[in-house]
Amino acid sequence: MAEIIGLPEPPPIGASALPAGTFDGEAVFVTGAGTGLGKAIAGEFARLGAAIVIASRKPEHLEAGQAAIEEIGGRVLTVSCDIREPDQIAAAFDAATDAFGLPSVLINNAAANFPVPAEDMSTNAWRTVVDITLNGTFFCAREFGRRHLLAGTPGSIVNVGASYAWTGGPGFAHSAAAKAGVKNMTETLAVEWGPYGIQVNGLVPGLFPHEDMTADIKGNLSRTNEKDVVQPAMRVGRLRELGWAATFLASPYARFVSGHTLVVDGANWQRRALTNPPVVTVRDQMGKGPFEG
Ligand code: HXC
Ligand code: NAP
Repeated sequence: MAEIIGLPEPPPIGASALPAGTFDGEAVFVTGAGTGLGKAIAGEFARLGAAIVIASRKPEHLEAGQAAIEEIGGRVLTVSCDIREPDQIAAAFDAATDAFGLPSVLINNAAANFPVPAEDMSTNAWRTVVDITLNGTFFCAREFGRRHLLAGTPGSIVNVGASYAWTGGPGFAHSAAAKAGVKNMTETLAVEWGPYGIQVNGLVPGLFPHEDMTADIKGNLSRTNEKDVVQPAMRVGRLRELGWAATFLASPYARFVSGHTLVVDGANWQRRALTNPPVVTVRDQMGKGPFEG
């Protein structure tokens, strides 16, 4: 009888498929690396020898990210930066270059999101999420690309996405549209900048719960009681699994991989039921009353 065993657990934290020192002498610029997935991704690069640059807005996040890298024994620079502001991004790259030389890898991890029915969404709510998630990702990529084109040096960009880029995401019209833009932009930039030695890929996390999730996202997740059994893998992702995928994509072993978006989600987004359950509106799922204009 076939047993339900789920996908196996990965090797322990600290293990790596890449050789020790793969990123020795290189700097990796990670947006939003003071929390959650960005912090985990930065940690895996640090374990492989990279100096880390953390760019985000909140001092408490920058401090937490710095502490995490120092605990691993890595070199780290934190820079206050709102990725909606191109001038702040340029200043952050100046500081990074002064400290470690021009970063050879950019991880566009920072994003904004909260669940809200489309009809309730304010103009500023839409603009804020699109501005951070799509515009901010482009502005960081452009800064990185311009500097490498001028220097004549190769580089690698990894844009963190979400699977509702393909499917749409009820309750997330702003974020899903922005992530679809990020996926599409990844493909364009990979073609435009390949001749200059710059790889551009996407990395889509499945469900990776972590303690830094915003109250809005935690509140949304709390609508499902048991996280593991709703995944085909019978478990959620382990943060290091995403970090390993990011380090691989930006490593010398993936140089011919470009314009690709790698999904690390245990096949969750392909899940379909044999018979569909009744549709429940986003308003009902969120416990909201009727729309009253
Ligand atoms: C409706 C909301 C809202 C909510 C904010 N807004 N939260 N509307 N429901 N829950 C509205 C505000 O009312 C405001 O519109 C507008 O959005 C901007 O809000 P501000 O607080 O002024 O913006 P700002 O200070 O720039 O903060 C941005 C933020 C915040 C996105 C609102 O949450 C943030 O900093 N987030 C960063 C981290 C983050 O979002 N992480 C999630 C990534 S997870 P008005 O009209 O009132 O001015 C992810 C995938 C998760 O992407 C998938 C899980 C399964
Ligand atoms: P998170 O902990 O909320 O991290 C988001 C980070 O983005 C924060 O560190 C935040 O730092 C930074 N940020 C937000 N707005 C910024 C701005 N304007 N300028 C600079 N930095 C900004 O979320 P997460 O779960 O780790 O998500 C990381 C990435 O994975 C995102 O792209 C998200 O869409 C994607 N993702 C996550 C999941 C999941 O299960 N966790 C699933 C699918 C996709 P500051 O507040 O300090 O600015």
